[in-house]
Amino acid sequence: MDQIAIVGGVPLVGEIPISGAKNSAIKLMTASLLTDEPLRLTNMPRLADTRFLGKLLRRLGAELTESTGPNGPQTLLHTPEIVSAFAPYDLVRQMRASFNVLGPLLARTGHAKVSLPGGCAIGARPVDLHLKALEALGAHIDLNEGYVYAQAPRGLRGATIAFPFVSVGATEHAMLAAVLAQGETVLLNAAREPEMVDLADCLNAMGAKVEGAGTSTIRIVGVSRLHGAVHSVTPDRIETGTYALAAAMAGGEVRLTQTRADLVESLLLKMEAAGVEVGRGVDSVTIRRDGGRLRAVDVETDPFPGFATDLQAQFMALMTTADGVSVVRETIFENRFMHVPELARLGADITVSGGEARIRGVEHLQGAPVMATDLRASVGLVIAALAARGETVVNRVYHLDRGFERLEEKLSACGARVRRLTGTEGGGD
Ligand code: UD1
Repeated sequence: MDQIAIVGGVPLVGEIPISGAKNSAIKLMTASLLTDEPLRLTNMPRLADTRFLGKLLRRLGAELTESTGPNGPQTLLHTPEIVSAFAPYDLVRQMRASFNVLGPLLARTGHAKVSLPGGCAIGARPVDLHLKALEALGAHIDLNEGYVYAQAPRGLRGATIAFPFVSVGATEHAMLAAVLAQGETVLLNAAREPEMVDLADCLNAMGAKVEGAGTSTIRIVGVSRLHGAVHSVTPDRIETGTYALAAAMAGGEVRLTQTRADLVESLLLKMEAAGVEVGRGVDSVTIRRDGGRLRAVDVETDPFPGFATDLQAQFMALMTTADGVSVVRETIFENRFMHVPELARLGADITVSGGEARIRGVEHLQGAPVMATDLRASVGLVIAALAARGETVVNRVYHLDRGFERLEEKLSACGARVRRLTGTEGGGD
């Protein structure tokens, strides 16, 4: 297994191009199952997660062709026919979002058998809201031996679905199924993340009728069929925020290109409160920090437009050397502080109580071997390492590879001393 070694203390100076959003791309890929015509996705990130999903989609009957177009990496997805509506455990467990093939399979063929998901180890993460939404659309659902058996032999029917709390995955899943349902569907208390807007834009380009994505009420008028389309994946807001925090931690000046400030505004405001300089361009964000300690700032994670839970570990890393005590409250996932003991190995002073972490800023961190535990937590360790004295070696970087494209290349282009040690880690699981 690979490791990443970082020697801290070097300011970052330069430009980092932001890739297409992982979390959007994987839902857009599942949307391709809704039509027998080709869907071309441009600005595609090339990641372990998109590869896993590609494997599953091929099993279901999709042909995938990757190439480089005028606007960078693109993938053509074409499923002339669903050859199997069965998503087996060994493919779904590798990535939770694969579960979202259930809705499109059901909408297109009237039946599906999909394994219950695995994914990051950040709490229980049930799929009850997904299943309730599909039931509301007229599907008959049975759970047996770890599988969901879903049937809608006469097709899905539009319905009003009021989510008891905001779920990104369930909102997307309901949208993916309702576009081919008969009649109107209204989603209340829908997620407002930019990925909703991206998915709705893509579905609409395919002939769907989706309105209100990006607000808490989404209206969908079902159509009898969808057609092919070309769609550009929205910029990755989590990658944007991560590199913004990396630049703030290391110091220097970094311009993040091919992205937008409005995708990460709640983070940028917190960074400014901490003393980081932020420049908002049309399709770029510039982060600048000269010497001097940052101020401690509190954050609480919330659904969009609130502070993203996927940036919590990275923000906590920044706070480890801030002046004062900051409180980070996690409200979305119950087990999302697994990076805390690893940050402590670098010298951070953090106490966790329930869903709250108190970070007492220290003067400096000291490099050490650490272990990545999940996707976002692991990049939090990389951020901390950028400012730590000496060398930090991050183990289990397969977590990073799931969601960050060419991380070490993007950071070293700005002067960071980062290198990948290939196949060096012993043991593990
Ligand atoms: C998505 C993102 C993930 C991000 C999260 C919150 C993808 C691939 N992943 O995950 O990176 O951290 O949004 O922004 O897009 N819940 C239930 N029942 C359900 C569904 C969710 O109880 O049926 C709970 C979850 O356990 C969690 C909360 O609802 O506590 C929010 O989860 P949700 O918004 O659904 O996150 P994901 O779609 O899994």
